[in-house]
Amino acid sequence: MSGTSHTRNPFTQVEIPAVGVTVEHLTKNFGSLKVLKDVSFAVQPGEIFVLMGPSGSGKSVLLKHIVGLELPTSGRVTVDGHDAASEVTRERVHMALVFQSGALFNSLSVYDNLALYPREHRLADEAGIRQKVMHALKILSLEGTAKKFPADLSGGMKKRVAIARALVMEPQLMLYDEPTSELDPVMSATISEIIASLREEYRVTTIVVSHDRDLALNIADRVGILMDGKLIFLGPPSELKQPKDPIVADFLAPKFDLKHPRFKQLET
Ligand SMILES: Nc1ncnc2c1ncn2[C@@H]1O[C@H](COP(=O)(O)OP(=O)(O)O)[C@@H](O)[C@H]1O
Ligand SMILES: [Mg+2]
Repeated sequence: MSGTSHTRNPFTQVEIPAVGVTVEHLTKNFGSLKVLKDVSFAVQPGEIFVLMGPSGSGKSVLLKHIVGLELPTSGRVTVDGHDAASEVTRERVHMALVFQSGALFNSLSVYDNLALYPREHRLADEAGIRQKVMHALKILSLEGTAKKFPADLSGGMKKRVAIARALVMEPQLMLYDEPTSELDPVMSATISEIIASLREEYRVTTIVVSHDRDLALNIADRVGILMDGKLIFLGPPSELKQPKDPIVADFLAPKFDLKHPRFKQLET
């Protein structure tokens, strides 16, 4: 990653320096529950960083610190050199978090889901918003869905709508929480390709939380593995092909996923 990385705005094509993220000795407790334990890493401007780890290891909590939705018990998180939770940072840096569930509003059409943020923040007049929304839908090959409602869409389309809605925020930092969960392998690969191509196209700094091994191996510049609140691995995905640490090897070994839909009928 060169030191001169710039993020390109998807709508105006204006370039501005890409932002980096640092996590410094981050510890987070909820009461007596120790969720993050002295976690440190840095994400370079324009990089795709994939944070892996088993369920409950603290991945989503870590992501929330980066967007300022949680505050550290100790340690520090910075975005573009400034405290992640400060009002100034949140005004200066455009961050977009794609939630695991998509977090679409079911009572709103796809169009209105995308238009919500620019309307609330008065980013443009209605004609300008329309242009942005339709352009974002086009980037995600979703032109035909503007008038549909989330309930009319497949799981993969909902994830794409959630990504399109994030793009409308003109992000310098894109964060994805489990973008391929509940998707079949083909759709998961498509979503991975979309994440990679948005980074290629707009050079937006990208942090993906996922336990999708294929996604990490295919699109990450670097991977972190969180286990029980500790960062047990930090390095390029090539190092994960033959991991030296037996704990990392065990985590990555393909296993039967009993939560997978094809095992549903076996339950109870
Ligand atoms: N707001 C909260 N209050 C108390 N405990 C929480 C809160 N948010 C998350 N946790 C706990 O922190 C741990 C890590 O959660 P999370 O980051 O969501 O895991 P995951 O790696 O699956 O994303 C879990 O035990 C979860 O129950
Ligand atoms: Mg999570």
